[in-house]
Amino acid sequence: MQPVEMRVFFSSEEIQKAVGHLANQLNQEYRDKEPVFLVVMNGAFVFAADLLRRFKPPCSLAFVQISSYVGTQRGQGLQTSVLPDLHQCDVVILEDIVDSGHTLAWLKEKVWQQNPRSLKTVAMLNKQVPHLAEADVYALEIPDVFVIGYGLDIDGKYRNLPDICEVVLPAGS
Ligand code: IMP
Ligand code: MG
Repeated sequence: MQPVEMRVFFSSEEIQKAVGHLANQLNQEYRDKEPVFLVVMNGAFVFAADLLRRFKPPCSLAFVQISSYVGTQRGQGLQTSVLPDLHQCDVVILEDIVDSGHTLAWLKEKVWQQNPRSLKTVAMLNKQVPHLAEADVYALEIPDVFVIGYGLDIDGKYRNLPDICEVVLPAGS
């Protein structure tokens, strides 16, 4: 794969500030609960690691693998790994980015089928395009650009970048 041209959209410092703010909110909201965080892999792994180290109440973690993108193109079908038992749990979905909202709508339905006590959806990024489903909370907002870094990939690469960077696509793509 050719190296992609990119520019920093949110620096690591800006991300940490937004994640800290979100953690404060969740610490308040779940202070008397013991939620299960359902981390959508692979994209949300860095976000989840940073957010959860600031989360104070007792909690547990589960991971679900979903994929829908091929390169920078929105894909069609969705696939997931097996979900844990979420019956009567206070579930918090941690997602990297809501784009079409297709993934989130689909996952929310899967989780509701398991009769959780409550369900909250938290996404790191809100891509400002029409969504099929909304997260309850977003850490940061972006326009309709393709971003990489801080867990987000292009064909499996660049997840390790500490900043969130916009991919500068070649003209005509
Ligand atoms: P949606 O179903 O269209 O909302 O897409 C959600 C999934 O597509 C996210 O969980 C990401 O894995 C991926 N995705 C969407 N936009 C981007 C992006 O700008 N960069 C990297 N991955 C993205
Ligand atoms: Mg992806």
